[in-house]
Order: sequence, then structure tokens, then C-alpha cells
Amino acid sequence: MKWWQTALFYQIYPRSFADGNGDGIGDFPGMVAKLDYLKELGIDAIWLSPHFPSPNWDCGYDISDYCDVAPEYGALADFRAFLAEAHARGIRVILDLVLNHTSDEHAWFLESKASRDNPKADWYVWHDTPPNNWQSCFDGDAWTYAAERDQYYYHYFMKQQPDLNWRNPAVKQAMWDAVRFWLDMGVDGFRLDALGTIYEDPELTPHTVPMTLAELRRFDETAVTPEAVALKEKYWLAMFEHQWGGPGLHDLMRELRAILDEYPGDRMLVGEDDDIAYMGNGDDELHLVFNFPLMRVDRLTPEHIRRNQAQRLARLDALPVRGWGCNTLGNHDTTRVWTHFAGDSPHAAERARLNAALVLTLRGTPFLYNGEEIGMTDHIITDPTRLRDTMATWYYDKSVNDLKVDPAEAAQRAGQMSRDKNRTPMQWAAGPNAGFCPADVTPWLPVNPNYAAGVNVADQQDDPGSLLSFYRRLIRVRREVPALVTGEYRPLHPRAVSYFAFLRETPDQTVLVVLNTSNTRRTLRFDVPGKGIAHIIFSSRQAEGEQDLQALKLGAFEVLIAELN
Ligand code: GLC
Repeated sequence: MKWWQTALFYQIYPRSFADGNGDGIGDFPGMVAKLDYLKELGIDAIWLSPHFPSPNWDCGYDISDYCDVAPEYGALADFRAFLAEAHARGIRVILDLVLNHTSDEHAWFLESKASRDNPKADWYVWHDTPPNNWQSCFDGDAWTYAAERDQYYYHYFMKQQPDLNWRNPAVKQAMWDAVRFWLDMGVDGFRLDALGTIYEDPELTPHTVPMTLAELRRFDETAVTPEAVALKEKYWLAMFEHQWGGPGLHDLMRELRAILDEYPGDRMLVGEDDDIAYMGNGDDELHLVFNFPLMRVDRLTPEHIRRNQAQRLARLDALPVRGWGCNTLGNHDTTRVWTHFAGDSPHAAERARLNAALVLTLRGTPFLYNGEEIGMTDHIITDPTRLRDTMATWYYDKSVNDLKVDPAEAAQRAGQMSRDKNRTPMQWAAGPNAGFCPADVTPWLPVNPNYAAGVNVADQQDDPGSLLSFYRRLIRVRREVPALVTGEYRPLHPRAVSYFAFLRETPDQTVLVVLNTSNTRRTLRFDVPGKGIAHIIFSSRQAEGEQDLQALKLGAFEVLIAELN
């Protein structure tokens, strides 16, 4: 097993994690100070969202220098110190690698834009007139005019995020230099941002949706009939279908993989994509892709989980070199796990524990998102002037000015769609600003007021009944029980609708996991050849000892993990 198969990853969103210098923005000294917290939590690796200099039109995903650190987060020396301190604790660090686009303030773009015949003239995607009706997924037209060249450039995301021309070998070389810069420094790998958008349809085929992006968003919000809902889904796919997955990506991934493989220490790549095809033969493209289909549902029902696992694992198993899964329930782009899968339930606390147990016991590498371990929830910002996610502020302006939506409704919708809601500062304590930054400083995004109601690290730290303690205990169990990490997955009771049961098996150990997703106590019978007794390893209701596999007692919403003999 490689380290990235057995590791538990934790995503840090640097702007919101820990503010070391008291300016209301997270930074490297802040992160270093929290490494012991992460060590105690039990994580093995950090995925760091972009920490590079950026004008922050897309909160760091618009990079203006790939080989430096955003001044608000510190200097290169602070990054080195962070990396050294993490490694000293046995924690690996992977970075976010944004290949599709740079910032429009990157020196490459400034040069490219300056004239039609400069050395970087062909580093981005230029046309004399917009060649089609493509839309940016963030801000409307995908083609933006640059007066300097009297031409239009392409951008899949904001117009401040021009797409690089990856068909130009010089672009590759420049980006690979940046990749080597960080690998030489000792980083352990990369999460590849939006890789599907790197290559477009070379024919530039227009989309067929009779709407602009803003109109489609509005249509989406107001669609209620089943026909309208089906249509909106069709439109979302059709609007961008020619801007994704163009030819060339597999070769590019192989090229990047070959660079990583030159380095010692099993450096790794995880793609922001759910397509297992990007793992190549299992050993020549990406090491991992995220199992996004698991979380792209309204409810994590046992049927859904079983179907998801069956589909994903079958495809991973079919690769020439057997592939490894990667499970997550949320990140900086999505509704928070608690809000998404527990929030509207009267048993939210129990459901949050079931969700944690799910992601920590399925076969595959788990990724947690900072704050989920204390049950942070979405915090909807309804004052548009406080929004920092520009895709939302853009849409707010469009809604009010072009689509004539009532400003109060538009503000509500913008707050809801904005990713700010799941990026608010980490809640460290019950004091002002949740201990993220000093009391007299305004944090870059408002703090979720529920920090005062127990959703913070300090209050949960020593409380054995807290969600944080639950994560810690479970992570410790995962570490101590080999089958939970390396074991094969075998679903049990394939028709159960109110609980999910499966085995994790190695040649030496058989572990049963049962997640009771219902409010009902039950007694279950498991027929596992050669096994009669369940020795409880972990129970969310503190059950202990042994149970008969023919009559296993399960409490309401219980998480039960047992070794079978
Ligand atoms: C990815 C990132 C997202 C960003 C986008 C453009 O989807 O996760 O936050 O806005 O790419 O870089």
C-alpha cells in the first residue's frame, strides 16, 4: 500500500483556517500553530487550497504567480516552515494545481495581451471575433475583448481567469517548471483543479441552449414542474458540453505523472473529476479521482451508497493496474456536509456522526474539509456587499439589473448559491470572531454565529460526547484496525433501506460496519461464513463486548464497528 491509499486527507482553505497575524485573514503562521490540533485529530495529509499570489477574483483560483506565496498568507519562507513543521509531525502536504487558467494579472497574460506578435501571443486562446456562443460558467460570455490586441480571449471561469492554450508546448514547459519548483521543495503531490476544462472541442461547436448563463440560472431557480426540472438539467449539461474533456487530456496527465514519478517518495495526484478514465491504466495518469457521485445527491440513503460503491469499485477493479477509491462528502465548493446531509433533520447530530463514519470506513482514501469535524454549517450571507465569491456577486447584479428580480430575493438567492456560505472562518473558540481573529478585527468573511452555541473547537475539545471527539475516536479506530483501511469491501443485506451494512476484509481480519440511518432500534441477523461472534470495536452508543451475529442489536442511528470471529 502507498501512503496516499492509507492516508486520511484534510483540506485546508487557507484564507479561513487560522489567522496568525491578526488581520482577519488566515495565514501560514496560523496554520503552523494548528498543526498539533490536526495531528491530534489524526490526519495524515493536508490538501492546501491555493496559497499563491492572486487578485482573488476566485478566491485564489486565479493565480498571478505559480512560484510564490500570497503576501497575506506569508512569504515563501513561511511556506517552507509550514511544510517542514507538517513533515516533522508525519503530515504530508499536497498543493492545489490550477492548470486550466491563470489570473489576468499573471505576467504571462499581461504579455500575451499586449500585442498579437509578442513571444507569449499564443499562450492563451485568442480569436478576432467570438467564434461561438460559449458561456463562462461563472460570468456569462466566455469570450472577452482585449483592446490592446483588438481580439477576444477565452475563459471558462471568470473573465479574470483566462484559459491557457495547452496546445502550445511552451505553456506546458512553463507550468511543468512551476510543478518542479514545488516538488523540489518537497511537497507530496497536487490536487488538480478543474482538469476537465483544460481542453475544449477543437471544432468550437456552439451550444444549443436558448439561454445565456444568467437566464439559465434564473430558469434553474424557478423551475418547479418535473418537465422544467428535467429541462434545466439537460440545459446545464448542454450549455458546457463542448467546453469539457477535449482531446489531449490523457496525454497531458501522463506527461505530468511522469514528472512526479521522477521524484522519490511516491508523490501523488488527485483530480477534481469523478471520471475514473483519468486514472489511465491505473498507474500512468492520476493516482486518485474523487468519488463525487457519492455526494451529489440530496440524501445518503443505503441504496444510493451501495449502488455508488458497486459502480465505482467495479470500474476501479477493472483497470489493468487495480485502482483505488477516494471518498469525500464536501469541500470549499459545496454545501457543508452537516447542512447537506443532516441539517434539516431533527436528528442532525446523529446523522452527522453517520456521515463521518461512512466516509471514514468505506474502501478508499477519505478527504475531510476543514470544520466538518466540529459540525460547521453553511452560513448564508444575505448582504450582497459582504459576499466575496464573485460568481455570486456577478449573478446578483445580473438578477437585479437585467432580469429585474426583486433585490431582496436576488440577495437571498445570491447568498444561497455563493460558496462563501461554506468558506466562513474556522471556529476555534466560543469567544469573539470564534477565536479566528482578534475581537476588534473584521474577518474577511463573517463568522457563523453558531460558534457561540458549541460549534467550536475549544468547547468540543474535552467533551467526550462532542462531534470532534467522535471524529477523533473513529479516526483512531481506523488507524488501529487494518481491515478498515486496506480491506476489501463486501456489502451485506443488499435490500436494506434503513441501515447500511458491509464488511471490510483482509486475509487476517473481518470487520463488520453497520450504520443505522433510522430512528429505530433493531436486531439484525448476519450470515457470514465461518463467523459467529461480533467483538465490538466502536459503537456510537458506547455498546461494548461481544454480540451474537445471529442477533446483533443496533441502537437508533447507531454506528457499529465490530471484528468478526
Ligand atoms: C475548481 C475549484 C473552484 C474554482 C474553479 C476554478 O472547481 O474547486 O473553487 O472556482 O475550479 O478554478
